Amino acid sequence: MRKSSRGTLLSAQTVFLAVFTCCAATALGQNRVVLNADLGRDTISRHIYGHFSEHLGRCIYGGYFVGEGNAKIPNTRGIRKDVVEALKKMKIPNLRWPGGCFADTYHWRDGIGPKAKRPSMVNTWWGGVTEDNSFGTHEFLDLCEQLGTEPYITGNVGSGTVQEFAQWVQYVNFAGISPMSVLRKEHGREKPWKVRFWGIGNEAWGCGGNMTAEYYANVYRTFATFIPADGGSGPLWRIASGASSADYHWTEVLMRDVPHGLLEGIALHHYSVDWDHKSSATKFTEAEYFDTMRRALQMEELVTKHTNIMERYDPEKKVALVVDEWGGWYDVEPGSNPAFLYQQNSMRDAMIAGVTLNIFNNHADRVRMANLAQTVNVLQAVVLTDEERMIVTPTYHVMEMYAVHHDALMLPVDVRGELYALGDKSIPALSASASRGTDGTIHCSLVNIDPGHSREVVVELRGASCSSVTGRILASSKIQDHNTFEAPDKVKPAAFTGAKLSGTTLRVQMPPCSVVVLSLRMNI
Ligand code: AHR
Repeated sequence: MRKSSRGTLLSAQTVFLAVFTCCAATALGQNRVVLNADLGRDTISRHIYGHFSEHLGRCIYGGYFVGEGNAKIPNTRGIRKDVVEALKKMKIPNLRWPGGCFADTYHWRDGIGPKAKRPSMVNTWWGGVTEDNSFGTHEFLDLCEQLGTEPYITGNVGSGTVQEFAQWVQYVNFAGISPMSVLRKEHGREKPWKVRFWGIGNEAWGCGGNMTAEYYANVYRTFATFIPADGGSGPLWRIASGASSADYHWTEVLMRDVPHGLLEGIALHHYSVDWDHKSSATKFTEAEYFDTMRRALQMEELVTKHTNIMERYDPEKKVALVVDEWGGWYDVEPGSNPAFLYQQNSMRDAMIAGVTLNIFNNHADRVRMANLAQTVNVLQAVVLTDEERMIVTPTYHVMEMYAVHHDALMLPVDVRGELYALGDKSIPALSASASRGTDGTIHCSLVNIDPGHSREVVVELRGASCSSVTGRILASSKIQDHNTFEAPDKVKPAAFTGAKLSGTTLRVQMPPCSVVVLSLRMNI
């Protein structure tokens, strides 16, 4: 949970330097991407395409879960079929739960066993609503099985105990006989779920306990000691609560003070938001759009600098950088509960997703997991629901189009492009990343965030030759365009015919504010 003072903004100077370095070649007015097809080394983990679902507003209740026996909304054991189908199509690789800030108030034992006997609690972070605990561990893991996705569970550090956390891991993962595995079996689940990803608290610097980095490092050491790397059914990832945006001290202290044998990942949270002026999700000005884009592009600097710190302590890259909360954050939709963070999702969000995922792809060596906030009805959602109706958002389409990069070999790109200028400020207009799939196809994702100018992008292929190119595009005439329950397909991908191949050069015509994913068939 944020206050306006919370995010340490990057200095104007560092942003300027990053922009200047990236775009020094723009005087020619040319946009050029060198795609190094022969320099692939790192795999883009599919887990950077992960999602996050908190007990917040209508994310869980109404979003995923409508209750067993709901006759109006088709469901499997209370979980909406339409949402599951949509997310499966997007190939959702992992799902983080139960929070967020909620995680450090959550006591998992309240959410197991017969529903009539489950105690309720107050969701203190998100509107003071009563949480009846009808969606708990079994329901979440059922959801993950229906989705075919890996669970990522964040345990309670702020108001929980080491014992409570360790018992949760045992309940979920232990195959042998123990008090917790016996309890699990009594509640109807014979086999362990084998959950690999565990977050050790959330935002420990804020809603997770207002701790200092030094204090949390010690707390982390204690918790991680009792959650052994082998959680009873294989190796676990213990993920430390990470920095907020540019809080480099946090990462430095964790990397320095936590023995790396206790640590598989360190988180980072960054929202593309001006906390003092969030703006409407759909009725925003170009200046507000520009500001959001500037903040989304800051992810490049953040990932680079946090990675550089990690590099010093862990040159072998054992510890992953896990950006487990990112996305746009605007004013809530008029008339909706301000604590529920329900916002629409426009082409602006598609641009955030496109550039952010390109950044993650390009840092695949260290960024091995990430989670968009949040999947359904909250913040930069990929799915919105209204009773029995459901729509997918522009962000959904970008995630689905980019699924071609999952577990593919990252191919380094060198991007030189024009600037998107507004007033006396400018940021790079073009962003790109590329990968090679197991079938040999190369995919290149390109984003032109400039709403006022189309761009011709020249992609030079190095180290391979290509026989044909196809593509898909997401574009719309206005940056404010979005899908509604009345017009669910206003923004959707289309076949792209604006790429022409000549030898090893591709000329790509990118409309204003567009995301293009190209598929290049290679000569053998
Ligand atoms: O995603 C909403 C909130 O943002 C999360 O609960 C918290 O971790 C972050 O401050």
